[in-house]
Amino acid sequence: MTSCTRNILTALSVAGALHTVAAQYDAPTYSGYTLLWSADFSGTAGALPSTSNWNIRTGYLGVNDEWEEYTSSNANLQLSGGSTLQIVPWTNSATEYGWTSARIESVDSWTPASGVVTRVEAEIDFGTNAASTKQGYWPAFWMLAESYRTGAETWPECGELDILEMIDGVLTGYGTAHCGDDCNDDDDDEGLQSSIAVPNDSWHTWRLEWDRTSGNWETETIKWYMDGEAFQTLTGSEFSEAVWTNLAHSPYYVILNLAVGGSWPGDPNSATVDGYGAMMEIGYVAVYQS
Ligand SMILES: *[C@@H]1O[C@H](CO)[C@@H](O)[C@H](O)[C@H]1NC(C)=O
Repeated sequence: MTSCTRNILTALSVAGALHTVAAQYDAPTYSGYTLLWSADFSGTAGALPSTSNWNIRTGYLGVNDEWEEYTSSNANLQLSGGSTLQIVPWTNSATEYGWTSARIESVDSWTPASGVVTRVEAEIDFGTNAASTKQGYWPAFWMLAESYRTGAETWPECGELDILEMIDGVLTGYGTAHCGDDCNDDDDDEGLQSSIAVPNDSWHTWRLEWDRTSGNWETETIKWYMDGEAFQTLTGSEFSEAVWTNLAHSPYYVILNLAVGGSWPGDPNSATVDGYGAMMEIGYVAVYQS
């Protein structure tokens, strides 16, 4: 109870410092687009996000040599009270590898429809601790194919679209597709990746767009954006039709998590600092269709 109260109070002060206008963190309206779905994370400080929107994953998932145990404690996952969601990593000596964090996955999934643009977007900021204290952190806003969740297909052939990943507090945003051999996933799991320099730890908008307006799978595209600036484009003709069907014609669900340690960022070190200064904070997640 003591630590719970402390975390809520800390969250309130963080929220108070950063957020004065809740509407700033609501999904925007875009002319020419219909909002299909959104999560705005309004609600009482310290509450969990709505479980009608989100599955909260718990436990040790045993992927990528990561160190965190995911929990549904509001120390790791909570509404800020300022219309945002906070995912906060903490050291915890009672866990197998010494860390707790959180991961949520959208209950719904969305299929990019033929003839339109489908846009998946989130507004995200990061705790303000110096990058030198963030070794080992791996926050991510990404999607997996519903066929993976149902077990119909295995990774990476199912398809994975990473809209934003950052490692070790370095202000570089990575966008990646994983899809098997066509994505260079056969031996090294690197996928098809591009990156963009992120101006600061503060709020930025990260978006993936499927553009199926051409009516021909070979000229359809998937594009990644930060603050409206495109930084990676994939085009159907770069792939086989079967792979493109998995990447661009199939349902995907959204995942938000903050991993600690593992094969990509490397492990935390003695300078790594836990808590709110290391968090990933989300203003909204939204899905639009043109
Ligand atoms: C972060 O960078 C953006 C430019 O992308 C700028 O508009 C914003 O004011 C910066 N925020 C802070 C807190 O420096």
